Amino acid sequence: MDQLTTQELITKLLYLVSIVFFIFGLKNLGSPKTARRGNIFASLGMFIAVVVTLFHQDIISYTWIIVGLVAGGLLGGIAARTVKMTDMPQMVAIFNGFGGGASTLVALAEYHHLMDKAALIPGGQTEITVAISIIIGTITFFGSLVAFAKLQGLVRGAPIVLPFHNGMNGLFILATLIIAVLGIITPINPMYFYIVLALMALLGVTMVIPIGGADMPVVISLLNSFSGLAASATGFVLMNEVLIVSGALVGAAGLILTFLMCDAMNRSLYNVLFGAVGTDGGGGAVAGDRSVTAYTADDAMVLLENANKVIIVPGYGLAVAQAQHVLQEMVELLQKEGVKVLYAIHPVAGRMPGHMNVLLAEANAPYDLLKDLDEINDEFQSADVALVVGANDVTNPAARTETDSPIYGMPILNVDHAERVMIIKRSLNPGFAGVDNPLFFEEKTMMLFGDAKEMVTDIVSLLKEA
Ligand code: TAP
Repeated sequence: MDQLTTQELITKLLYLVSIVFFIFGLKNLGSPKTARRGNIFASLGMFIAVVVTLFHQDIISYTWIIVGLVAGGLLGGIAARTVKMTDMPQMVAIFNGFGGGASTLVALAEYHHLMDKAALIPGGQTEITVAISIIIGTITFFGSLVAFAKLQGLVRGAPIVLPFHNGMNGLFILATLIIAVLGIITPINPMYFYIVLALMALLGVTMVIPIGGADMPVVISLLNSFSGLAASATGFVLMNEVLIVSGALVGAAGLILTFLMCDAMNRSLYNVLFGAVGTDGGGGAVAGDRSVTAYTADDAMVLLENANKVIIVPGYGLAVAQAQHVLQEMVELLQKEGVKVLYAIHPVAGRMPGHMNVLLAEANAPYDLLKDLDEINDEFQSADVALVVGANDVTNPAARTETDSPIYGMPILNVDHAERVMIIKRSLNPGFAGVDNPLFFEEKTMMLFGDAKEMVTDIVSLLKEA
């Protein structure tokens, strides 16, 4: 084995340090209490990896590296600063896509570089990893573009299913595998790899286009996992340890999250990918001959103040209204009155994993008040009030009974087991899954129509006056 130069040795050691930072970062991201620290560790790891790579002896010119750093840094910085919390899933989707696209481009660049040096080996390890990188990276890029377009409302959110959809996807996969093998054994002919790229671009689109409604979070985390695997494959192309390990970490973490999300929706990954379930999310709730009673902040305040136990169910509307601070203020006022208050956190409430935890952490809600679905569901029956703030799908009892509902089988928060249910939202409109919520029409339900921030602010003012 070749002796390592001092510079190579230092590079490898520093890569190892950055890998350790990544692992500590991930570990700390496992809990809301330590998540900030986790982000700092992971960022430090990435910083070390980037700086060390900039000293690589094979770099001939820094011009394009600087152009890329400035353009990427500026775009990333502006996007991170300006994106609304509610648009986060789209941003995550597009960033996953860029990760996959970058992996494909780097792998292709290395392939052409080896071709120019006449260093390609038929059936060689690099040729295999180039093919894997192109396959996973391209599907990630195009799949993520479609996910972005759906979440941004540029493409219909409902499943778009073509004739023989799954069969066609199966054929794409089979053809890709055959052509990729041809590319690996005859690497001198670049046409094969470019056909693989085109097929995977098509598959990326046809794989994500039939996925609709409430299944989008699962797809986003799966694409996130793919972007990691693509980076890892490209790490093998370049024989760069830090890329291999960090890509594998993203791949594994994304896959674990994917299965957790499937569990949360009570769906199998197969059903999500090939079931074409979900609706547009655009249909209005039809009250028909059912009636709802609109209550006021005064009514809510009286009930809340006199309750022994209140469980708050935050949802996407809390994020839209940015009502988390005033909501926590209300919790503190109620606690002073001797009311026991808990937050019930559904795993897919909001629009991204941990969305409610992030919002409530921002408002300094104590972590021990935040209870997840399994912990809280039996507590509703002893609660005087379940206060639903901008949540809808995660409380919808249709998920238990209506077999043709797109959310059928998804575990929900048992708000209807509480003595009274108060729902703060602006209208009877449905949530993300686009389905009617029978909870609004139950006798025990009080609808508080209005913006979550305004309504909770009114309740807080009344509590202060009382
Ligand atoms: P949704 O079911 O989407 O309902 C949110 C409700 O908030 C809407 O019905 C809306 O009703 C109300 N709302 C909007 N703006 C408001 C405001 N300013 N003030 C008060 N209310 C407001 O939310 P959820 O219960 O949190 O469920 C999440 C859904 O999103 C699930 O279907 C889930 O699968 C899906 N999803 C989740 C994720 C992740 S990972 N969390 C990612 C993508 C999709 P009005 O218009 O009447 O006010």
